[in-house]
Amino acid sequence: MRAGERLNRYLSLAAGVSRRTADELIRGGRVTIRGTAVTDPGTFLQPDDEVRLDGNTLVAVPEEKIYIMAYKPDNVVSTMKDKEGRDTVASLVGGLASRVFPVGRLDYHTTGLILLTNDGELAYKLTHPRFGVEKTYVAKLMGAPPPAALKILRKGMPIDGVMTNPAEVSFLEKREGKSWIAIRIAEGRYHQVRKMFDAIGYRVMKLRRSAIGPLELSGVEPGEWRYLTGKEVRELKAYVGEKEREPRAAPQREPHAGKPKFVPRAKRQQPPVPQKSSGEQKGPRQPKPEWKKPPRGPALPSPHRPGARPGPGRPQGPPARKADSPARKAGKPR
Ligand code: URA
Repeated sequence: MRAGERLNRYLSLAAGVSRRTADELIRGGRVTIRGTAVTDPGTFLQPDDEVRLDGNTLVAVPEEKIYIMAYKPDNVVSTMKDKEGRDTVASLVGGLASRVFPVGRLDYHTTGLILLTNDGELAYKLTHPRFGVEKTYVAKLMGAPPPAALKILRKGMPIDGVMTNPAEVSFLEKREGKSWIAIRIAEGRYHQVRKMFDAIGYRVMKLRRSAIGPLELSGVEPGEWRYLTGKEVRELKAYVGEKEREPRAAPQREPHAGKPKFVPRAKRQQPPVPQKSSGEQKGPRQPKPEWKKPPRGPALPSPHRPGARPGPGRPQGPPARKADSPARKAGKPR
């Protein structure tokens, strides 16, 4: 018995029924607490309460923690519900018995790694700014920023009047007037990556999240999901454990900046950007990237097998589609 838990949640776990069915059973007068019928599903349980369904004592099994990696496609909201009726990440993992929720957000048009879990503690540590969890993105840009422009991102820059922390930036490729840049940031401000590139004068055409801390997007195609392996869960927990021990400085306001005020996009002033060069690799004074995109993670976990029991350490997901294309292997949004 977990004191303070609501009756419907307890019943749902102990009787293995959905929350809605639990509500119906309770409202139907079939559930008693200490021998008295209780019809309010939201009743809070007290220590040592004995709950019975149709006279049978219930014992709740601890809820199994589940951790899911989903590949959010474009045009999907990263919430479980959407007032405007758009596709949500819930539709990607529909039919799961346990309730999971997405950890953090991605823009409607950003694709890539979304972690879903019912582990509130881990989710909190992965999203609270205090822990400074690093997220890695690959941006496809119109044009190719020269080294000096990337240096601005690496140093930290004002976005909406508040300095960004230094980002790790790695130039991946330049082709047909476009470039692909990996950027790792330990913040999660609204539209942050898009705004950072905007501010150096480069529009993000596509953005894809490829990693959260040590957890890399792998073994799933857009729209698919799988359970994390036990190793991935352990590594993620060890990583947030380390973040918990590292103190983190608060973001700095831009020197002399007042309250950030809204400036229409068309009127926004871009900081002076050095002359466009033909790409970072060719610039004469190319700084060595301080950080290179890490190699792809461990061997791909096996895909979803209908009927197989889910659970941490037991990789599972919908049928895997075709193997990674060369472009995706390089970690680039196409
Ligand atoms: N930065 C963005 O601009 N968009 C995202 O979805 C995530 C980070």
